[in-house]
Amino acid sequence: MSDQVYLNGKFIPRSEAFVSVEDRGFLFGDGVYEVLRAVEGRLFAVDFHNRRLERSLEGVRVELPGSVKTGELVEVGRELLRRNGFERGQATLYIQVTRGVATRAHTFPAPAVEPTVYVSVARFTPPSALLENGASAVTHPDLRWGRCDLKTVNLLPNILAAQYAAEHGAAEAILVRDGVITEGSKTNVFGVVGNSLRTHPCDTHILPGITRAVLGSICADLNLALEERPIAVDEIPRLREMFVSGTTMDVVPIVRLDDKPVGNGAPGEITRRLQKALVENLASSGE
Ligand code: PDD
Repeated sequence: MSDQVYLNGKFIPRSEAFVSVEDRGFLFGDGVYEVLRAVEGRLFAVDFHNRRLERSLEGVRVELPGSVKTGELVEVGRELLRRNGFERGQATLYIQVTRGVATRAHTFPAPAVEPTVYVSVARFTPPSALLENGASAVTHPDLRWGRCDLKTVNLLPNILAAQYAAEHGAAEAILVRDGVITEGSKTNVFGVVGNSLRTHPCDTHILPGITRAVLGSICADLNLALEERPIAVDEIPRLREMFVSGTTMDVVPIVRLDDKPVGNGAPGEITRRLQKALVENLASSGE
């Protein structure tokens, strides 16, 4: 099966897909992206992803070329799923838009240039051992900027935190800013403190995760109260359950944090309920 990607209006072999060294994504990390999940060729939460991509583009003031709409990029992704033979099994769809190619200058290119638009797909295998047994995590300072709500390709603080986690035998880094847990390096974070299921509110310090939003409506369906209030670092010893959520993680129970057990050190009951409900949602709601 051919390995094709989409770059600036064309479907081409991945091996022939190149961008200029003057691309602002390469020089400055000046661009935004999305990651969607495909199960059996059906894409999950398409409208949410389209809206978030539009919001990210607006937030960094990048405009798609001419008449292209964000929804068309998802359609390009669907075509790539077909062309690459990913209509069966699971895959991820990656969309990236950068401000385009121009001689290096901090200000926007003048006159304006076309953005660089890249879409690709990859085979995806859910992290089944982590999903089943739970994972270890470590806390790490949240070193990111003041607009973490925009999904930009500027991921250096996330990369350094994720690498720190990997080097400490952990599956995720839990980011801490001003004494509270914000989110993970590539996930949102939930915890059960006392009887209350909590997650950081959607403000400029976290990415409004699509999985987080879906879990919010699952909680409502299950009559499970979800409080959007940050978990403070000094509440960590009292956590009864913890989990992270994301497009490539689903609901992964966190059973150890900074080398100490979370709760009784096994995936919690609420975590398991939400994990199960999300898998059912994934299986039934794609389009
Ligand atoms: N990351 N927080 C951050 C910082 C993220 O990068 C992500 C997703 C999430 C979860 O969002 P969602 O549920 O929409 O996937 C939260 C993607 C998968 C990535 O960078 O690969």
